Amino acid sequence: MSAVGRAIPHESAEGHVTGEARYTDDLLDRHAGALHAWPVVSTLAHAELIAIDARAAEALPGVVKVLTAADVPGENEAGPVRHDEPLFPSEIMFHGQPIAWVLGETLDAARRGAAAVVVELRELVAVLTMREALTAERFSTDPLVIRHGDPEAVIASASHVLEGELEIGGQEHFYLETHAALACWDEAGLPLVHSSTQHPSETQLIIARVLGRPRSEVTCQSLRMGGAFGGKETQANGFAALAALGLQITGRPVRVRLDRQHDMAMTGKRHPFWARYRVAHDEQGQLLACELELFADGGYSLDLSKAIMFRALFHCDGCYRWPNLRVVGRVLQTHKTSQTAFRGFGGPQGALVGEELLDRVARACALPVEQVRARNFYRAGDLTHYGQPLRDAERIERVFERVRMRGDFDRRQAEVAEFNATHPHEKRGLAIVPIKFGISFTTAFLNQAGALVLIYGDGSVQVNHGGTEMGQGLHTKIQQIAADTLGVPLDAIRLMPTRTDKVPNTSATAASSGADLNGAAVELACLSLRERLAELAGRLLGVEPSALRFAEGRVEAGERSLRFAELAARAHVERISLFATGYYATPGIHFDEPSGRGKPFHYFTFGAAISEVEVDGFTGQYRLRRVDIVHDVGDSISPLVDRGQIEGGFIQGLGWLTCEELVWDAKGRLATRGASTYKLPSIGECPDEFDVELLPMAHEPTVVRGSKAVGEPPFLLALSVREALRAAVAAFAQGPVSRVELGCPSTAEAVYWAIERVR
Ligand code: MTE
Ligand code: MOS
Repeated sequence: MSAVGRAIPHESAEGHVTGEARYTDDLLDRHAGALHAWPVVSTLAHAELIAIDARAAEALPGVVKVLTAADVPGENEAGPVRHDEPLFPSEIMFHGQPIAWVLGETLDAARRGAAAVVVELRELVAVLTMREALTAERFSTDPLVIRHGDPEAVIASASHVLEGELEIGGQEHFYLETHAALACWDEAGLPLVHSSTQHPSETQLIIARVLGRPRSEVTCQSLRMGGAFGGKETQANGFAALAALGLQITGRPVRVRLDRQHDMAMTGKRHPFWARYRVAHDEQGQLLACELELFADGGYSLDLSKAIMFRALFHCDGCYRWPNLRVVGRVLQTHKTSQTAFRGFGGPQGALVGEELLDRVARACALPVEQVRARNFYRAGDLTHYGQPLRDAERIERVFERVRMRGDFDRRQAEVAEFNATHPHEKRGLAIVPIKFGISFTTAFLNQAGALVLIYGDGSVQVNHGGTEMGQGLHTKIQQIAADTLGVPLDAIRLMPTRTDKVPNTSATAASSGADLNGAAVELACLSLRERLAELAGRLLGVEPSALRFAEGRVEAGERSLRFAELAARAHVERISLFATGYYATPGIHFDEPSGRGKPFHYFTFGAAISEVEVDGFTGQYRLRRVDIVHDVGDSISPLVDRGQIEGGFIQGLGWLTCEELVWDAKGRLATRGASTYKLPSIGECPDEFDVELLPMAHEPTVVRGSKAVGEPPFLLALSVREALRAAVAAFAQGPVSRVELGCPSTAEAVYWAIERVR
């Protein structure tokens, strides 16, 4: 049986559950004498740094060095896109920002040292909310615009127009492994930095910049991450650079590992959004036109906020055709952590607004919302608002109808109505929501990947590629692709830690495209090796190379065969090269910012979910009774891994939409800095029944092995939970309501107030 398409566990599953799998900070046991770093953090959200006095700290036993801006030999700058993130700031930009770092013989010494550093600050006015930032005109980007048709004219002459606004909360990544880096010398006395990073190449670049060294002198390795979710796409860079700086200054290995409170207070989160809209529709619920403004709270620096806003603009249409649409996005600057990538990368915020609009139109027309959804689906031949043809638009209806059947939607809706009629204090809600998600980095040049595959004389194989493993199963899929292409057993393939000295100039493992890009590069490398080996095997067996089959560790043609290991040994003797690189660049993607037109995505993935909730009218508390999902992953390379991604993505989306609530106090201090105050979804929030189906017959011809990306899209399926809650809230009203306002996140408290409003 082919290794591709087989339902196997994650390659490190056993290591994950037994604790054997090693993470960056576990490597500390190999570095005797490593110093520990602890930050001196700001107690104000916005301030001028007047002075730092480290004398008392450096006099303490066990304190080796207090690192400040004066120690930076290169550029004091960690910003990935714009140079607006000094590693050691002179202007404090958020509460909890690191000002200086103390290196100690022990963590305790470093911590005591940090407490002894005297920092003089002059407080400045802090801008903490999006509304304040808008009034003060503090922006991190220009307005980004996509325009299609003539929405202003249509809205001006339409008979049904509605308007409103909506605020959407952010989200903490809460990866189990907090940020970590360990810097040591390599054999040449140059920095080798282990980092829990999604983007080793950029981490290498920032380290080199801070140290004032060429990139070739810096090696960065990302062994595996204990979750990342976008939170380690850029945010790991500064901590790795800090460790490397400590190494360079003291000559000793340096370990940085944030504790949970620091990680939450210091690192960027999902962007909170604020939407304002005007919508025109007809009385059948047909969408006519929309003018939409999206604001994002980007925090203090740019980071990836512009690309994140663009992805929100690209996804505000959801699965629906808007004949006229103008959407303007702008990132606001506030004195908070620099908000960053988080699973979906702005797409979920955009799609959430889209569903909000659909629901408003349906209720304004007093029509069932699922009917209004289906009526407005994109059809084959439609273009999106940015002018990309929507290939496979019919899959929207396919996943929608399929989950409707599998989830028995129509019958259950009647049951819910019956339940609601007989229960004055508890109401159930049922919703079915389709999603689409565009796959590719919308910055076109990032869509490239490389691989380096080595076959040894005994037939065993090492695979290097540019992607990083964060639990999503990328290495598992790569192993399957390599094993299948070379025709060897899975355990003949060893995946090497991701390192910048193996594949250079890689992109972050992000935008869900890790397997699409790196999988294709690995396949190409394996194919060129197979071609060389087939040539030789053909000669040895006296057959045409094209007649050979590579499978199960053998190369065969009819009765004749060779072991793969024999063939590799023979190739070595015959001086045939047994290593190859592979390089893949996604063809045909482009986007023109000024005109807002292009084909930013190689393809789209689709899915649909039904959620059913039961809400208590006295408290707003609720339970998720059942979830049904049909999701499109093309031809799955690894069905078990894909199922894990769908379930995990959905639950993470559920957390964002229902229980996870970030609270900043009036001084800009993050009040929710741990699991005791920041409610994560746990087993109690999981649905009682959870059915996931991978859409059958879903071959994607333009991607490696006919597969589709899966990492982020399922996150959006949780929108069905929000819509189910809305349906339940509506059921508390006497008769139909023309609007159900529901706070986001829809915590029990938000649901309670939504019920009060409809009552
Ligand atoms: N799954 C796990 N277990 N851990 C993670 O950190 N990150 C998500 C998703 N699934 C993540 C995950 C995010 S944000 C992305 S972009 C993709 O995985 C990245 O990996 P891929 O491109 O290989 O799918
Ligand atoms: Mo994922 S947010 O693209 O790292």
